[in-house]
Formats: sequence, structure tokens, C-alpha cells
Amino acid sequence: MSVCLKGRSFLTLKDYTAGEIEYLIDLAIDLKAKKKAGIFENHLAHKNVALIFEKPSTRTRSSFTVGCVDEGAHPEYLGKNDIQLGYKETVEDTARVLGRMFDGIEFRGFSQDTVEKLAKYSGVPVWNGLTDEDHPTQVLADFMTVKEKLGHLKGIKFVYCGDGRNNMSNALMIGCAKMGLDFVVASPESLFPDEKLVELCRKYAKESGAAITITANPKEAVKNADVIYTDVWVSMGEEEKIAERKAILGPYQVNAELMAATGKDSTIFMHCLPAVRGNEVTNDVLEGKASVVFDEAENRMHTIKAVMVATLGN
Ligand code: CP
Ligand code: NVA
Repeated sequence: MSVCLKGRSFLTLKDYTAGEIEYLIDLAIDLKAKKKAGIFENHLAHKNVALIFEKPSTRTRSSFTVGCVDEGAHPEYLGKNDIQLGYKETVEDTARVLGRMFDGIEFRGFSQDTVEKLAKYSGVPVWNGLTDEDHPTQVLADFMTVKEKLGHLKGIKFVYCGDGRNNMSNALMIGCAKMGLDFVVASPESLFPDEKLVELCRKYAKESGAAITITANPKEAVKNADVIYTDVWVSMGEEEKIAERKAILGPYQVNAELMAATGKDSTIFMHCLPAVRGNEVTNDVLEGKASVVFDEAENRMHTIKAVMVATLGN
């Protein structure tokens, strides 16, 4: 099947078919092998890329920067105090100006609406580097890592433990439903995913053959899991909620006991990072033999590069 993504934005996996997602993962695997072999093909020569960050970042910022430079593009970092996005200049105006100067725009920030407006008004490909609602580039890296470690995606039992309504839980549910992985969310009822999103994902799941399960029972959830995934208990922008989250999320901590409750010793542990050791995951699990978190972090770069090459490459 031939896939052409040229000119497309990457705002959420909802906009992508299973075949297109697979294509991006395989392109990333290819670009990773080429980089390891010292082969660089300059797919983004003479392109200029704007990197807008309203929120902090280590992996995403570095991935876009290194991905650009490896492929011959120029990345320009625009931090929250560098531009006046949305408070002294409308998002629409900033989008139109940046679209006249840059060939592609990455956005990390609060509102999904902002990244959508940037795409609508800039006229160039816009890539979502995380919003309150979604984190689609992370899911590409996660699935690439699952493919590398376990050989395939379809039929994998993928269990997410923790805050079931945050950007990672949302993005993973969309991705798993599209790609045919059995997705389980284990979280307190008050943090169950948004009903509307679950309904949409169940439609995708019907097509792909995936199952979606939402439960408050973590031990039951992880039985026979191929992947256990967690994320921070408070996301960027909601730091004041830490006490209330700690009070309800303790049973969802990924620790040796929960890993053992899978009943398997081949289960891998994943985390988008940054991690708060002692909260959502214990130090021994993060450092243990099941943990693939640093391969996963490296794959951010290869997958983000693949997204830019596919949507903007020469
Ligand atoms: N996983 C992730 O998005 O990391 P950063 O916040 O460091 O970009
Ligand atoms: N849910 C986390 C993800 C960080 C990559 C956050 O939004 O802070």
C-alpha cells in the first residue's frame, strides 16, 4: 500500500488510519537504522521549522531539534516568553505570520484548540508536541518500542495504570483502538476517561479488532499484560492537584507486586517520562529488567523525525 502524507498536519491519531500510523512507525525504524549506520539523506534540506513551547520539555524539544538537524532543516525554538501567542496576538495572526516564514510548526501547550487553529491558519504542516488532551507523537514512539521489543502490535494487551483522563491515557486509547491492541485503563472511577472519547475509540476498536476495558481494579487489569504503562499523577498545568491525586492513586502505583500480578515475566514496563519515582512507579521497576523507558525515550527522536520527513520531506 502506498502512503503519502505530504502536507498533512499531525494533531491527533484520530486523523490517521492504521495503515498511515504503521507507515510512520516503519519509517522511524528505517531512519533509526540509517542513523546508526551513519547514513543521512537530508530529507528536510532548506526547511525552517518553528518549535513553539508553552510548557517545558526535554524529550520532545530535543527530538524535534535533533530530527531537524539530522535531516538538514533549521529548528527555531519559540518559548512561552519569546512570542505573544494568544495574549497580545491572536493565534490566527501568529499562525499566518509563522506560515509565511516557516515550512512546518511544532506546538506544545495547553489547548488542543490552539494547535488546531495553528494548522488551520498557517497553511503549513503543524505537529502536536503535547496538549492537555493529547500526545500523539509519544504514542508513535511507544508503538515503535513495542514493535521492537515484542515484534508486533495487534493483539498485545496494553495496560495503562494511573490518571485515566490525561493526555497520555487519551492518546494511547486512540492509538491502541486504531492499531488493534487490547487497551485497559486501570484508574480510580473519578479519573475514568471521558465517555465521549471512549465511545469514539470503541468505534475504532470495532474496526481493528481491539478491546477497550476500563476498570478501577489494578490487580485484575494487569493479569496477563504484555505492557504496563504509567504516567505522572499530575500533568503539567495541574500541579495544585498533587495531594488529592496522591490520596487516590496509591493502589495504581506500578511496583514489584503489580508487575508480579501479570503472572508473566515477559511483561515490559513503559513510561513516557519524566517519571516521579515513588509516586506512579517505584525506583526498582523503573530501573528493573522489564523497563524499556530509555529505548522508548530515544524512539521519540526517530518517530518525530519520521513525522517531519513524511509530512514535509523533499
Ligand atoms: N515524554 C515527553 O513528552 O517528554 P518531555 O516532556 O520531556 O518532552
Ligand atoms: N501527562 C504528562 C505527560 C508528560 C510527557 C503531562 O502532561 O505533564
